[in-house]
Amino acid sequence: MRTVFWHDDHIRMIDQRRIPWELELVDLYDTPAVAHAIYDMIVRGAPAIGATAAFGMALAALNSTAASHDALLADLDAAGEKLKSSRPTAVNLAWAVDCQLKLARESSSANPDDLRDLLLAEAQRIADEDVAVNMRIGAYGAALIHDGDTVLHHCNTGALATVDYGTALGVIRAAHEQGKRFHVLLDETRPRLQGARLSAWELEQLGVSYDIIPDTAAGFYMRRGEVKLVLLGADRIAGNGDFANKIGTYQVAVLAKENGIPFYTVAPISTIDLALASGDEIPIEERDAAEVLAPFGNPIVPAHFHARNPAFDVTPHRYLAGIITEYGIARPPFTDSLPKVVSGVTL
Ligand code: MRU
Repeated sequence: MRTVFWHDDHIRMIDQRRIPWELELVDLYDTPAVAHAIYDMIVRGAPAIGATAAFGMALAALNSTAASHDALLADLDAAGEKLKSSRPTAVNLAWAVDCQLKLARESSSANPDDLRDLLLAEAQRIADEDVAVNMRIGAYGAALIHDGDTVLHHCNTGALATVDYGTALGVIRAAHEQGKRFHVLLDETRPRLQGARLSAWELEQLGVSYDIIPDTAAGFYMRRGEVKLVLLGADRIAGNGDFANKIGTYQVAVLAKENGIPFYTVAPISTIDLALASGDEIPIEERDAAEVLAPFGNPIVPAHFHARNPAFDVTPHRYLAGIITEYGIARPPFTDSLPKVVSGVTL
């Protein structure tokens, strides 16, 4: 089953807050519900958020009573603003909204009903393309995994974080499908535990050998020489290769460099934001302190205690051995290799 898809006249998605305990589906019928699903992380992971936003724009068009192209465009602009403000860091969200707005603007001769059909078809295309792109990424990245390796992974970058298949976990999946025998260490990824809950759930189903480890144990296993490779995702990659990803990525990068372990991020080109010169320009989402004080509603300290909760950090490009994309592995200097992959040149 895909993480997010169109069903009859609305959006249907897996409720990722309930995994691994229950596989529940949620139906979304309007823009506020879609924005809430993204903010509340019913759906999360940069590519999955992007596909949701693309379907969200199609849904906004369907719900609009506009009788003219201009009126529909105004409703779409408003929906796009609402969706973009739901989570700021993953560029795939803004990318998908802007793709739909561009299509709407360029289809000025289409009547509102035709435009509604076009936007839904485009959302479907974006979702289908995400799956195809991930499989291409998987094929490039799998060459880096060898029999007997242990791979360290942070957060969740699998089928749940995308429409299907995954990026960094997609590479792991592709290597497993090629018959390679290796082990994966999954950082649990506090405070929302995407590694322990979501990545472990996916690897269980795929039959990939894994252990969940506390985030704080990554250095322990690296120093003992057990980790051969680090693979993880990205929410936004700046033009120089600096990238934002789930909080804790930066410390994994520093530990990997200290221990001489190759460290790769894995992402489709829709995650690359060439408009930004460096990672300093990436907006970083700060989430509610309650996620730290009482994860999933279970208090670990009194509610009046103080906490901070940045959802992402930025890892400087110097820590990266490469960026695995659907056009091959971009290597340093990224100011040369990233513009090539973004324009569709295979490396
Ligand atoms: O807060 P999340 O769970 O949306 O964060 C997800 C990540 O940081 C992923 O690594 C990233 O989105 C890439 S998913 C293919």
